[in-house]
Amino acid sequence: MKSLFLSLVVVSVLFMNSFSEVQGKKWKGEGTTKNLESIVIGRCYNYIRIVNPAVGEKNCSEIWEAFKNAFINKDPCSILPKDYELVINLSLHTIPPNKSLFWENNQLLVKSFADRGRRYMSLGDTLFGFFGDFLNWCGQANSAGLDYESCPTMEECENNAVDSFWRMASITYAQHSSGVIHVLLNGSAVGGAYPAPGFFADYEIPNLQKDKISKIVIWVVDDIEGPDIESCGTHTVKILENRLKTLGYDVTCTDNYKSVMFLLCLDYPDDSKCTLSSSAPAAQRGPISSDRGGSWNKLLFVSFLGFLFRFALVY
Ligand SMILES: *[C@@H]1O[C@H](CO)[C@@H](O)[C@H](O)[C@H]1NC(C)=O
Ligand SMILES: *[C@@H]1O[C@H](CO)[C@@H](O)[C@H](O)[C@H]1NC(C)=O
Ligand SMILES: *[C@@H]1O[C@H](CO)[C@@H](O)[C@H](O)[C@H]1NC(C)=O
Ligand SMILES: *[C@@H]1O[C@H](CO)[C@@H](O)[C@H](O)[C@H]1NC(C)=O
Repeated sequence: MKSLFLSLVVVSVLFMNSFSEVQGKKWKGEGTTKNLESIVIGRCYNYIRIVNPAVGEKNCSEIWEAFKNAFINKDPCSILPKDYELVINLSLHTIPPNKSLFWENNQLLVKSFADRGRRYMSLGDTLFGFFGDFLNWCGQANSAGLDYESCPTMEECENNAVDSFWRMASITYAQHSSGVIHVLLNGSAVGGAYPAPGFFADYEIPNLQKDKISKIVIWVVDDIEGPDIESCGTHTVKILENRLKTLGYDVTCTDNYKSVMFLLCLDYPDDSKCTLSSSAPAAQRGPISSDRGGSWNKLLFVSFLGFLFRFALVY
């Protein structure tokens, strides 16, 4: 009985070993996004034809080739930001003054707030940020193939294909930002509104071109139902403000900036923080809204009667 159990264990260990060899999971991170080439080339043409034709003509196949050559046939832990230099050169375009929006810990919020460059142009709204957004990729040494099974995480190695790309993209984005610079921080973030190390702290601030920048506007926005962990002038936001002032920038900071609050409030219309206006007298607002509710109810009731009537006619 005991030996049967042991041999079962041995067989399953062998099976698992060969299984993982077949799968080839070398790393802890997710593998390359399937259909990467089609996604990158498609996003690139979507960007230059529809999202932002102002960037002018680009060869998206050439950009893909340069992108792929940055990391294929190489040890996936020795990819450096400068390996992406040609990709950046081929996809670079101007970032309109006053439109730059830097951020930490609120990517999805920034995505809707920036509105694909219509309101602000965050890194994800530039051509080079747009085609890489939410994708994963890596190659392998001595093979031109992509690794679809697994890719190294930041913990496994810093110089992985994805992080080095975003470092290069962040550096370039900061270097080309001008005018009024905006920074949207998460006042409810557990690790601090202004994380250091972080992309903004380590790759963006050091690459801002001081002579092209007139002002830096910081917004610290808390989640509607989230904790108010940080605000302007406290903790890590204070560290950021001091760092930028020491560098000689004109800095302002605003807590819970109204435009961003309106956007967050789409999902919490009944929260007390989301009351649109408190200046109009309650007596004036009350009847209007209840009357609207009333006529909507009446409309629903009438439609329902109509439906019952037709129902009765058919049968
Ligand atoms: C775009 O680049 C590809 C690959 O480098 C090349 O084969 C093609 O001729 C280029 N197309 C144009 C229109 O320049
Ligand atoms: C990218 O452009 C810069 C500036 O024009 C140039 O110095 C550099 O050699 C280019 N790099 C590549 C890989 O083409
Ligand atoms: C950028 O903002 C500044 C300050 O608000 C303004 O004076 C300037 O005209 C703006 N530039 C552009 C290109 O909109
Ligand atoms: C802010 O950070 C918290 C905690 O890390 C997170 O749960 C929340 O989704 C973030 N808010 C936004 C708007 O991304």
